[in-house]
Amino acid sequence: MLRARQAIKDLREYRPPLGDRVGMRLDFNENTVGASPRVLQCLREITLEQLARYPERESVELALARFFRVRPEELLLTNGIDEAIHVICETYLDPQVQAIIVVPTFGVYELFVGATGAKAIPVLAKQDFAFPTEAVLAALNDRTRLIAIANPNNPTGQVASRVDLLRIANSAPQAAILVDEAYFEFYGETLLDQIGRLPNLFVARTFSKAYGLAGLRIGALMGPAEQISAVRRVASPYNVNSVALACLPAVLQDQNFVQRYVDEVHQGRERLQDELRSLGIPYWTRPFLNEMRRRGVLVRDRSHDLGCEGCVRITVGAAEHMDQLLSAIRKTIAEIGSPKEVSA
Ligand SMILES: Cc1ncc(COP(=O)(O)O)c(C=O)c1O
Repeated sequence: MLRARQAIKDLREYRPPLGDRVGMRLDFNENTVGASPRVLQCLREITLEQLARYPERESVELALARFFRVRPEELLLTNGIDEAIHVICETYLDPQVQAIIVVPTFGVYELFVGATGAKAIPVLAKQDFAFPTEAVLAALNDRTRLIAIANPNNPTGQVASRVDLLRIANSAPQAAILVDEAYFEFYGETLLDQIGRLPNLFVARTFSKAYGLAGLRIGALMGPAEQISAVRRVASPYNVNSVALACLPAVLQDQNFVQRYVDEVHQGRERLQDELRSLGIPYWTRPFLNEMRRRGVLVRDRSHDLGCEGCVRITVGAAEHMDQLLSAIRKTIAEIGSPKEVSA
């Protein structure tokens, strides 16, 4: 009988809903307005011949390296950051080694670490989810081969300082340090300028979030040329599809679109924080989730993550979506009572 490897059988299932998400979707950190209209123009211009060919990535990879100010040999286009995580794990991990994951965080790290048979070492964030630099340093050993850090983090929004990240990278020359900058545009600080300066530092970027292209699946992994050449061996030469490749150059040029959206999200975050403060909502509950869903607003239950008991993650989006969200929150709280009155 055909059997999956033990490491695969041991994986916790990571199963985001792949359909039936009816309502306003604030549950998956997607862009709530979509991508730059220039994408539609690119899509209209795609020819059947283009689709018949295997994707040709070289010129887009060069353009993206220029955009990120790294050398072309320091960049690998990937099928979103998900694939960047996957190929890093495949390149550096095996059942004899360990990977440090600062939790709570994005679930895909644990998934791809686990699939290699390596041991995932969760390091719990500090109170208020602050980044636990000292605990990460204390968890290092000579079997550590990967440290995965989302900066800013999902689902907490917390950040690790540049000084702390560099300290960790310098303290673990035997490990790949993956700084996942999926939300860079909303934060503005990056370690990209350190690419190639540190022999073990990788930075991942995506076009799924601020750029609104989660459906096209395109991102990039950047790191030292020698390491990227190792990682490249694991990735399919056709990992990024021709439609995504055709759209990317135009998308890069429409920085106004990205900036407008980022500004709107910052304003939305202020409004949401003010509202939650005035409603006195320190944590969230199952009745809250259900009642919000009944009102057509999907938010994400993260209460099963380590350190996240009673927490819900809400995507911040465009003003009109924040209007709907805030109105649904007010009505929900009026219906079920403030969280202190219901069981967590
Ligand atoms: C921290 C983080 N990294 C990566 C991703 C996935 O990015 P991509 O769509 O590029 O695979 C997400 C998506 O939610 C995320 O929150």
